Amino acid sequence: MFSPQPIGYARSPYKDTQQIPKGLGAQHEAEGVLEILPEFGAGLTDIEGFSHLIVLWVFDRAEGFDLLGTPPTDNRPHGVFATRSPRRPNPIGLTVVELLGREGTRLHVRGIDMLDGTPLLDIKPYLSSILTEKLRRGWLAEAETRRGQ
Ligand SMILES: C[S@@+](CC[C@H](N)C(=O)[O-])C[C@H]1O[C@@H](n2cnc3c(N)ncnc32)[C@H](O)[C@@H]1O
Repeated sequence: MFSPQPIGYARSPYKDTQQIPKGLGAQHEAEGVLEILPEFGAGLTDIEGFSHLIVLWVFDRAEGFDLLGTPPTDNRPHGVFATRSPRRPNPIGLTVVELLGREGTRLHVRGIDMLDGTPLLDIKPYLSSILTEKLRRGWLAEAETRRGQ
């Protein structure tokens, strides 16, 4: 199909997956930097006006995949495409971050949940048009109810 090339790398306080908050109610407030490679710098033109960004990245330290798995948020198995498991057929991660500022090709962001040095595939402005009352949270809502959250 195509061979994706990193557009940059994440600088994150997380060196180990154990350090990243997981499970129900986990808050992702960590700050980091998206370091974009100079040859893609022009692509950041006008990005400052957006408060939040969608970041697509590679789970470069995950191996293999499971079509069914039990996430840390539940004690029941779910299909990989109904979870955010790192162990996926195409190991692509998606994170919405808050853009704190830009310094040339360095984007300072809040809300990262990836390891330091994670390769970045793409960045897009976050534009949500789905009303909160229209969103369904599937098994996650049931797991929260079972745990009384
Ligand atoms: C549950 S996934 C969710 C990631 C993203 N928000 C998503 O929805 O695709 C986040 C977990 O991926 C793992 N992780 C983060 N960076 C990784 C990397 N570069 N390679 C492999 N696993 C990684 C960590 O265990 C982290 O807690």
